[in-house]
Amino acid sequence: MKILGIETSCDECSASVVQDGEKILSNVIATQIPFHAPWSGVVPEIASRKHIEWIYAVTKDALEKAELKVADIDAVAVTSRPGLFGSLLVGLSFAKAFAWACNIPFIAVDHMLAHLYAPRLVAENKPEYPFLGLLVSGGHTIICRADNFDDITVLGTTIDDAAGEAFDKVAKFYNFGYPGGVVIDKMSRNGDSNAFRFPMPSLHKGEHRYDVSYSGLKTAVVNQLEMFKMKEGSPQPQDIAASFQKTAVEILLRALLNAAEDTGITTIVAGGGVAANSYLRSRLGEQTRLNCVFPPLELCGDNAAMIAGLGFHYLARGERSAFNVTASARVTGFKKKYP
Ligand code: KG4
Ligand code: ZN
Repeated sequence: MKILGIETSCDECSASVVQDGEKILSNVIATQIPFHAPWSGVVPEIASRKHIEWIYAVTKDALEKAELKVADIDAVAVTSRPGLFGSLLVGLSFAKAFAWACNIPFIAVDHMLAHLYAPRLVAENKPEYPFLGLLVSGGHTIICRADNFDDITVLGTTIDDAAGEAFDKVAKFYNFGYPGGVVIDKMSRNGDSNAFRFPMPSLHKGEHRYDVSYSGLKTAVVNQLEMFKMKEGSPQPQDIAASFQKTAVEILLRALLNAAEDTGITTIVAGGGVAANSYLRSRLGEQTRLNCVFPPLELCGDNAAMIAGLGFHYLARGERSAFNVTASARVTGFKKKYP
């Protein structure tokens, strides 16, 4: 079964064809980063305009790269939540029109579940259920237990900023560049991560054992800005970046390792843009008792292959979405609290 995936939830305009939920035949990702960079953040209005300009060409490209015609596609899967509402509507409307015109099934899928699915698109080391998920993106930070592709129990989440948001905000304050996570990761390679001792949140007990918080860290890092501005004796930008990155990752690790210890689950799947972070990847790689599965870098960020891959499993169960399904900026329906 060849499924066309469409992803337009944020600032990547992506289309992909995946066969039987496993084999990527094409995965075209057109990034809007240069259009948002002047504002150091995603501008929703620009994002939806670019999606509507690009979605046709991106989809055509995905079909050509897969060496397929429209008539070869068996179904369309599309992100319907969570994300920027206007951006989601572009992909959703396009996917509905495609499915309607071709008289094929259409399935709306959840972007966060798709991030968790991404490592299953790779031949080696496919994670088996149950596993613990570490979902870290620009809008979400979720530690969860996954018992199936659509059976997720949220164990912990952020009580304020998302992990990627913290990277983006710190980079914006310091004018490091955009997108913040990528820039800080790169700068940190030449920085001293012990130059500053930034505080860890006091959140690791009781009901917050698996939760994280970034507002305290963000404030502490931003407070260094005055020193940073002074010429003499000022800290090096790469030292600020490296010290921030280290603490940001240790915050995630503490909550995740608590969850691993308490549940006894030893397979961890990381997903979302922050899962591309080199320090996070190396720190998790050091945990010899755990089997940590990361998607390859091109499947960490937003992409339509993960949408098509996940969509296959709903269709294989005989499910499809109604044509009146709408987009939703937020998520409801997981078993426990969700931001
Ligand atoms: O999953 P994603 O592409 O889009 C959302 O669904 O939000 O994640 C984007 C986030 C941004 O906050 C970006 O700064 C962060 O992922 N990010 C990183 C890295 N690459 C992207 N954060 C830390 N290190 C990276 N290498
Ligand atoms: Zn994402």
